[in-house]
Amino acid sequence: MKAVLYRYTGLSSVLSFEQTETPKPGPGEVRVKIACSGVNPTDWKIRSGLTGNQPDGFQIPHQDGSGVIDAVGDGVTEREIGQRVWLYTAAYANPYGTAAEYCVLPAERTVVLPDSASYELGASLGVPALTAAHCLGGNPSALRGANVLVAGGAGAVGYYAIELAKHAGARVATTVSSAEKERLAKTAGADLAVNYKAPGALEKLKSFAPQMDYITEVAFGANMETDLALSAPGTVIAIYANEPTDPILPIRKLMRTNATIRFVMLYTITKHDLNQAIAWIEDALEQDALSELPIHRFSLEKTAEAQDFVQQGAVGKVLVIP
Ligand SMILES: NC(=O)c1ccc[n+]([C@@H]2O[C@H](COP(=O)([O-])OP(=O)(O)OC[C@H]3O[C@@H](n4cnc5c(N)ncnc54)[C@H](OP(=O)(O)O)[C@@H]3O)[C@@H](O)[C@H]2O)c1
Repeated sequence: MKAVLYRYTGLSSVLSFEQTETPKPGPGEVRVKIACSGVNPTDWKIRSGLTGNQPDGFQIPHQDGSGVIDAVGDGVTEREIGQRVWLYTAAYANPYGTAAEYCVLPAERTVVLPDSASYELGASLGVPALTAAHCLGGNPSALRGANVLVAGGAGAVGYYAIELAKHAGARVATTVSSAEKERLAKTAGADLAVNYKAPGALEKLKSFAPQMDYITEVAFGANMETDLALSAPGTVIAIYANEPTDPILPIRKLMRTNATIRFVMLYTITKHDLNQAIAWIEDALEQDALSELPIHRFSLEKTAEAQDFVQQGAVGKVLVIP
């Protein structure tokens, strides 16, 4: 098969487009013929060595993808050849990520993609939508009527946080940094999108809701004063990204809010929480409540450019098409 792989971490130039042996699924695994490979910040961070170890031999990158099951390993009963699926955390502790014509991975990391959903949407869900669902607490019924602040609503995680929170019946405010990003956040269904770089942002958020029930946070250090001003007993702040420098936490100020701060790392959430997030996404997909971000397509040969584009802060979803 054609694949992109790297044998050591480094700049995107370590990515090599090659002809390699097509893998066979082992027990409990399936093989997916990849339609779209979704690129996320985690993919360049792992490849660069920032968050990833040296590969054991080689690594095909990319956690997310979509396609059709074309082979099943021994003991797999819940997946069958021909099923359309979306994939998540494919390259986690597995050399076969989705930047290839075929990907072999544990069957449980595939989810059936309804016919109404495109492969492009399927490849956009894994890391962003699962993280968003988990940050929002995983239980949509708890969000009905809740006030939610999504920091960075035009980012991939932020966009799906808005769509999932709206699907659950919440009121959603979000922060953005440009008119283009405001339009995107509104497309996702945000009731209010505020430019956090413009004066008066906090006042606008406060008049939307003096206290938020949930905050999904992409930059806690930068946004801490805003988050604290919108927090009270019962507020849950879920932090899913770090910044170049860790913030100093004003513990007493934080204590005074009686808010709960959660930290989220998708790769290591519990099976229960993962299943809850998947179920919510499946339900939202069935009800047509999730949509594609603006798509940027790259050929498999151009995977390095695709990763660089994500690293530079691409707006929308970057996909590699094998
Ligand atoms: N912990 C986990 O399991 C997990 C899972 C998924 C993603 N992540 C991490 O989360 C981060 C975002 O991922 P993504 O895929 O959503 O990336 P993305 O699509 O690039 O979106 C990031 C968004 O954050 C916005 N942003 C940056 N600083 C902000 C601030 N101070 N206030 C509000 N918005 C701000 C950016 O827009 P502006 O800069 O224009 O404001 C951008 O729209 C990455 O660092 C990624 O590695 C972690």
